[in-house]
Amino acid sequence: MAEETTETKTQTQSELTGLDHVVLQRHSTRMFLPTPVSISILCEALELARHAPSNSNIQPWRTFIATGAARDRLRTALLAAAGGGAPNIPALPEAFRHFRTDLGKQVYNKGMGIAREDAAGRAAAVMRNYEFFKAPVVGILCMHRELDLQDAVGVGMYLQTLLLSLTQKGLNSCVEVSLAGYPEVLRKELGISEELTILCGVAIGYEDASFGANKLRIQRLPVEETTVFLDE
Ligand SMILES: Cc1cc2nc3c(=O)[nH]c(=O)nc-3n(C[C@H](O)[C@H](O)[C@H](O)COP(=O)(O)O)c2cc1C
Repeated sequence: MAEETTETKTQTQSELTGLDHVVLQRHSTRMFLPTPVSISILCEALELARHAPSNSNIQPWRTFIATGAARDRLRTALLAAAGGGAPNIPALPEAFRHFRTDLGKQVYNKGMGIAREDAAGRAAAVMRNYEFFKAPVVGILCMHRELDLQDAVGVGMYLQTLLLSLTQKGLNSCVEVSLAGYPEVLRKELGISEELTILCGVAIGYEDASFGANKLRIQRLPVEETTVFLDE
C-alpha cells in the first residue's frame, strides 16, 4: 500500500479541526523521547476512556500501567524472554499476510532504513517492541477470561478513546500485540492474575519527531472495499 505524502497529510490536516484532526493525528510511534509523562495527564485520558460503550455496560477493560521501576523491570524481563524464543502470537491467516508485508516494507525499509536482506537489523528493530520503543509508560490491556469477542470490542473502543484522548493532549502511542506474546512475563512482573486474558500492550510517551518511521502515515482501504451498503 502506498504511503500518503507528508505534504498531502499536512495540508489536509491544517483544514481539519476537532475530532477529525485528532483521529488523523494519531499514528503509531516507534521511537519515544525520554521525556516523562505526567500521571495527572494520563489519568485525565483514562477518565475519558472509561466513557466508552460496552456490552451491557460491563466495562470489560482492565488496564495495568507501568512507569518508573515497574516499567524498567518489565522491559528487562521482556527483553530476556524475547531473546530466548519467539512470542506466542496467533499467525495471521494467509489472506491477510500481504498487509503485514506491506507494513513491514514501510516501517522497516522506508521508515527505519533497514535493507530487506538485513535480517539482524530487522531483528534488532523488532526487539524494540520489548522496550516499548523507549516510551516511559506502558499499559497492558486485559479482560476477564470468561468474556468473549463482543467484549473485546468494548476493550477496543476503550483503547481507541484512550489513544485519541492522549493524542489530543500531545502524547503519542503505539498499540503492541507483541507484548501479549509473553503473557507469563507480564503476569509475573505486573501481578496480572490468571482470571484475566491479556489482549495487548500500549506504549505511551512523547515521540521522537526526528525518527523516520514516526513520520509515516499508513494508508487504509477505501470505505467501498470494507463496507456493504444495502437498501432493499
Ligand atoms: C491490536 C493492535 C496490535 C498492534 N501491535 C503492534 C505491535 O506489536 N508492534 C507494532 O510496532 N505495531 C503494532 N500495532 C500498530 C499497527 O501496526 C498500526 O496501528 C497500523 O499499521 C496502522 O498504522 P497507524 O497506527 O500508524 O495508523 C498494533 C495495532 C493494533 C490495533
